[in-house]
Amino acid sequence: MNKQTILAIETSCDETAIAIIEKRKDKSVKILSNVVLSQAEKHAPYGGVFPSLAKREHAKNLTPVLERALKEANLLIPGSTPIKDKLKNILSREPELQSNLEEFFKAYSNPQIDHIVVTQGPGLEPALWVGINFAKALGISWSVSVGPVNHLEGHICSVLMPESEGSVFTPSVIEFPALALLVSGKHTELVLIKPGHTYEIIGRTQDDATGEAFDKVARMLGLPYPGGPHVEKLASLGRPNQKIKLPRPMITSKDYNFSFSGLKTAVLYLIKNMGGIEKITEQDKADIALEFQQAVFDVLLHKSLRAIDEYSVKTLIVSGGVSASSSLKNALNESLNKLDKEINILTPKRTLATDNALMIALAGIHRIKKEKQATNLDEIQANGRWNLKGIN
Ligand code: KG4
Ligand code: ZN
Repeated sequence: MNKQTILAIETSCDETAIAIIEKRKDKSVKILSNVVLSQAEKHAPYGGVFPSLAKREHAKNLTPVLERALKEANLLIPGSTPIKDKLKNILSREPELQSNLEEFFKAYSNPQIDHIVVTQGPGLEPALWVGINFAKALGISWSVSVGPVNHLEGHICSVLMPESEGSVFTPSVIEFPALALLVSGKHTELVLIKPGHTYEIIGRTQDDATGEAFDKVARMLGLPYPGGPHVEKLASLGRPNQKIKLPRPMITSKDYNFSFSGLKTAVLYLIKNMGGIEKITEQDKADIALEFQQAVFDVLLHKSLRAIDEYSVKTLIVSGGVSASSSLKNALNESLNKLDKEINILTPKRTLATDNALMIALAGIHRIKKEKQATNLDEIQANGRWNLKGIN
């Protein structure tokens, strides 16, 4: 086959996303479409993602997102797709999704898709299930194989698209051993990657994830959800300030684990001791944001550099929502410049740092290559805590 078309579905958190890529024989990849519909505004009043709302929104949005993704890919063909009996069983818990999809099948015929991949975990299980059932429904109706992808492997693969490239690119080459610093709203992990994409988790957060800590501190500073980009913007106005000092938790611990919950509490007390958020000047708020951000980056970078040294790492991957931060990338480049060793750094394009389905499609390429036969649909089950260790 000269080319394979892969459709990827991502619904692990609050983004409903579908991407379609074409993988060509010369290993280049063409992005046919990459649609992301964020629910962030809907969750903002709760200060975080509300699982049952996320599930409902995915069910409502998946069919329109599919239609858009196929249309952008020039794969939306008027006609009809026979509705199979099995569809009712698969979507029995999603009546809205079922009726949307049946309407869709009445209007369009089978598109030319060779594989479907879907995020199986980790993430919010009710949200994952909607995407998985949708993938199964499409697979059965279009007679196409469906394969599971790990969301974190997706974040790692988000760096395979070079930052400066357009819609056709040759995936970046990763020199092994590689180290991935995964920093998202739900995860903070240091993962050692060996040839053939086998993973060893060498450290992780013991409590809050990096993005979660940013979101919580943003809330304390009166900033909207998701807070990371707002904290970064405020921090850019901050000045190093003698009276505003925060701890660097676990920076000297011998392991590669992290802890951000104490840091978040330290911000809470700092604000209290300064008389409460209403009494704090805008400049002081910016100084707090800067010191908090610096404390987080100091710990992340200190541990990453130590792991680079211990494991003779050749490529450092920094990915996940927090890697959208230019301040993190600047701090990273500054620390690596001080090392007297050449190391290849891979970070995702800004739009691929937060959740999207293109990264799931890129991870899907590896999975499809490795799987000798199509996965049995019944084996694809949402797994909220699926970690990278078991994948190879
Ligand atoms: O990867 P992602 O979209 O979702 C998860 O899989 O968790 O990450 C979202 C997280 C949020 O917590 C958000 O505040 C954080 O990434 N984030 C940032 C920045 N942009 C997004 N954190 C710090 N600085 C940023 N510029
Ligand atoms: Zn994510």
